[in-house]
Amino acid sequence: MKPRRSILSVPGHIAKMHRKASQSPADAVMLDLEDSVPVNEKDSARKTVIRSLESLDWGAKTVTARINSLETAFGYRDLIALAEKGGLVLDAVVIPKVDHCADVHFADRLLRGAEMHRGLTRPIGIEAIIESAAGLEKISEIAGASDRLKTLVFGVADYSASIGARLVSLSGHGEKEETLYPGHRWNFALSRIVMTAKAHGLMAIDAPYGNYADPEGLQRSASIACALGCDGKWAIHPSQIDLLNTVFSPSAEDIDRARRVLEAYDEARAKGRGAASVDGRMIDAATVRLAQQLWDRAKQLGLVKS
Ligand code: GLV
Ligand code: MG
Repeated sequence: MKPRRSILSVPGHIAKMHRKASQSPADAVMLDLEDSVPVNEKDSARKTVIRSLESLDWGAKTVTARINSLETAFGYRDLIALAEKGGLVLDAVVIPKVDHCADVHFADRLLRGAEMHRGLTRPIGIEAIIESAAGLEKISEIAGASDRLKTLVFGVADYSASIGARLVSLSGHGEKEETLYPGHRWNFALSRIVMTAKAHGLMAIDAPYGNYADPEGLQRSASIACALGCDGKWAIHPSQIDLLNTVFSPSAEDIDRARRVLEAYDEARAKGRGAASVDGRMIDAATVRLAQQLWDRAKQLGLVKS
């Protein structure tokens, strides 16, 4: 799957932001029909998004659109419109507030029908936002509900509301939370999402960091998500994209260490040994798997040649 280190979310009703997003360095763009769109703009936003999908040059970007919850009067209409008229560039629909695998089954069937109707050969993917206690509880069923699933996304704001957690920051996680709880407040939810995503061959994506004037907080938030195994994070402002692309890419130091691990292990194996030493640390087959994974990722991102 193509990398999704940074996913720029843009309000569906503001066309000029779509153009800017299409030219941005984000790996992916999410045209939003849900929470960034006021209720009186829901119908016009749908039309604006379809127009942008059809008319803009999205280059090599992954292009997605978030529908309204299937529990609302808007969600099913968004889904039908995107499925029938979503342009040939739409890679995935993003479904918010997925509480049950039935949400994914419903979208899967509807997309299949629309693809048959349109003669599309490339299936439209699904991204499921896990942002409620019910969704987190049913996450394994959700993750296995359709081959179309590409990512599981952690919606920290809605999740906090769903479990009645104390509101300490408007930025998601990373701001003012360090002293509140020993450890990371969202470790369980994020790790649960990461574990389930990886068990099903999906990517795990973290929700955005709301304070777009605070790169240090964003760095903290993204680094924690990356350390827990997330593949990327939403951005709500173009200024956040470069930082996210950097945090979710292997650093030069990581790449150098991985190269030395792979070389030392090859050398040890040639001498008939199962373990070797790098920087005074014992490395074995498990360390090599980690190093190989990092190397492959660096290769995919064009950071190393062979
Ligand atoms: C995202 O949708 C969130 O609720 O954080
Ligand atoms: Mg949400």
